[in-house]
Amino acid sequence: MPLVSMNEFLPAAREGKYAVGQFNMNNLEFAQAITQAGTELNSPFIFGVSEGALKYMGIEFTVALAEAAAKQSGLPIALHLDHGSSFDVAMKCIRAGFSSVMFDGSHHSFEDNIRLTKEIVKAAHAMGVSVEGELGTIGGTEDDISVDAELASLAKPEEAIRFYEETGVDALAIAVGTAHGVYVGEPKIHFDIIEKVAAAIPAAIVLHGGSGVPDEMLRAAIKAGAAKINVNTENQVAGTAAIREVLNKDAKVYDPRKYLTPARNAMVEVVKSKMTQFGSVGKA
Ligand code: G3H
Ligand code: ZN
Repeated sequence: MPLVSMNEFLPAAREGKYAVGQFNMNNLEFAQAITQAGTELNSPFIFGVSEGALKYMGIEFTVALAEAAAKQSGLPIALHLDHGSSFDVAMKCIRAGFSSVMFDGSHHSFEDNIRLTKEIVKAAHAMGVSVEGELGTIGGTEDDISVDAELASLAKPEEAIRFYEETGVDALAIAVGTAHGVYVGEPKIHFDIIEKVAAAIPAAIVLHGGSGVPDEMLRAAIKAGAAKINVNTENQVAGTAAIREVLNKDAKVYDPRKYLTPARNAMVEVVKSKMTQFGSVGKA
């Protein structure tokens, strides 16, 4: 099965009140772990690739890994640029084989965000590629980008409606109180914003910063209308902890497969538990 646009499964998730997970791919082991979890649970999923990860893996390796995952599993998988910063990066990804792109224009003015997102939607849709936009600013750290929690701002429902109407995005990330990276304390999620926006527009509502969010909050977010949830940090933490354990136990280990296999297994468990919480099991 070739890579698919997010429109192959997000409308059904929205309709069926479950969410499809975006799991960030950072290397081969992430790609394998996410694919194994999806295969065991027959779940659709999205490979999210940030610009930092793209730089690390190289665009050809990235696309080849995702295509191999789709071919091997037969699952509906989207390869999605995560937090894309420009029209040029989005086009480069689409030309290389990405089936979906995010343009994160949240650091621009509202009007500029609309204008820039609209240009990407026009070009991407002409090639059958789905687009995610972003409104409000999500706090925390991802790659080299840090947003102070104090400066993070929530999305405004009226703006989200206008943003959708003017851009025609397929999915919309709205800042509702979650953050990237590891949480200090519990997040305070504004479920009312998700509910208002989901009721007003047909695009899939996206929850970023899905790592470390307690189960009941994830359930409430999905109930309110979130149809895509992003997870990266929890896989990074679980994988790294497994590597640390092996290396701490035996200082003589030098074969990477000896520590990368437990890391990969740990990530399979994380992804399976998220797919189960999101309700996407059996939906491929
Ligand atoms: O875009 C990626 C996700 O929002 C990552 O969130 O740091 O909570 O895993 P996370
Ligand atoms: Zn994010």
